[in-house]
Amino acid sequence: MDLSLLKPKSFKGEIKTPGDKSIAHRALILNSLGSGQANISNFPRAQDTIATLKAMGTLGMDIVQESIDSKGVSSNLVIKSSGINSFKEPSSYLDAQNSGTLMRLLLGVLSGSLISAVVSGDASLSKRPMGRIVQPLKLMGANIEGEAGGEFPPISVEGAKLKGINYDMPIASAQLKSALLIAGLSAEGKTQITEPNISRNHTENMLIDMGIHVHNESITNKIIISPGIPNMIDVEIPSDFSSAAPWIVGGLIHDDSEIVIKDVGINETRTGLLDVLREMGAKISIEQTTENSKEPVADIIVSSSDLKGIEIQGEIIPRLIDELPLIAVAATQAEGITTIRDAAELRVKESDRIKNTVIALNRLGARVEEQDDGMVIYGKGKLKGGILNSEGDHRLAIAWAVASLVSDGEVVIQDSDATQVSYPNFWSDFLAVASTN
Ligand code: S3P
Repeated sequence: MDLSLLKPKSFKGEIKTPGDKSIAHRALILNSLGSGQANISNFPRAQDTIATLKAMGTLGMDIVQESIDSKGVSSNLVIKSSGINSFKEPSSYLDAQNSGTLMRLLLGVLSGSLISAVVSGDASLSKRPMGRIVQPLKLMGANIEGEAGGEFPPISVEGAKLKGINYDMPIASAQLKSALLIAGLSAEGKTQITEPNISRNHTENMLIDMGIHVHNESITNKIIISPGIPNMIDVEIPSDFSSAAPWIVGGLIHDDSEIVIKDVGINETRTGLLDVLREMGAKISIEQTTENSKEPVADIIVSSSDLKGIEIQGEIIPRLIDELPLIAVAATQAEGITTIRDAAELRVKESDRIKNTVIALNRLGARVEEQDDGMVIYGKGKLKGGILNSEGDHRLAIAWAVASLVSDGEVVIQDSDATQVSYPNFWSDFLAVASTN
């Protein structure tokens, strides 16, 4: 669907974003490995997480009860499982749809299970690299094959006896790390994984809560996991920081704004955006910090700020990887030049987010140069209207909405429904705070 947006007069209000997508996938997948029953609250009813609900259901997890909120955006679930060794063999493909996290974590699960299965995805996921998962799983003894030598979906797995390995990850990826940690649960001996930089740690946090022995050597970025079957636990999912990001950036760049975002997960492996924006000069305050299921949670308050350009590169990149298109939008409104480097991973997300961000922002009149591993954004350019395409990528549809807050002209977003992947009610929330009166 095409959506037409005009710059609002003000951008003010209180927002509660859907539950954290990364934590929601893990709450279902990790709990399914154990046996018993668990309550999952604030589960986001987004396309990606519903795909996980379906996939784990096919493998044997039961939904005992589900109460959906009046907007249909989140639900409280009671789930029941008999554990990984009782998984049912699916009669057809497990469909990961658009979700890299679901596909990659599932490959880790299936490798050490007692069943065979094939995991497929939509056109975008079918182009995303899987060799990074398939190769180390093969080293662990997995029986796993895919298109082009295991590089692309569909990927077929025949459960096997795995052994622990000592593996240096070539890229900082929480999806890769999580797939190997999960496979390590059913391997013989310990599995040791070293990350080049720290990526989100929800899998480690949850597994520790589930009684699994996970040792984190922070100086070397090494994680050592012992095999075991996780205990099922209740999970209260905090609001998604990545879905809070458009309100944070929008609130900073619009010249008449004040936005409060409630109960957001602020795990520091996710909040590189806050560090970057503060360095750019943003007014951000964090209030009422508590903890939900071992994850820190807080309200975030932002208001119109004067930003300046900075350099963004190195170890911070995995801590803000999904927020980079929004950072590029913010940089168009900053004084001076912003450079983003070491972010080649953006090219293999739901779309090529470097190429697509450069095309879209230039179309609105900004000056943005494409680099192999990032981009250079020349700031304080006036943005005009234009027609932008989400390219079916939820993070881009949302970033283009934020760009419309500072564009002097009509911004048309084609394929705006892509937001359903992570944030089903994004457009109603947006129209509620973007006031044209
Ligand atoms: C995710 C990890 C990140 C992120 C993705 C979700 C996760 O991907 O981009 O949206 O839930 O583990 P990589 O780990 O591949 O960088």
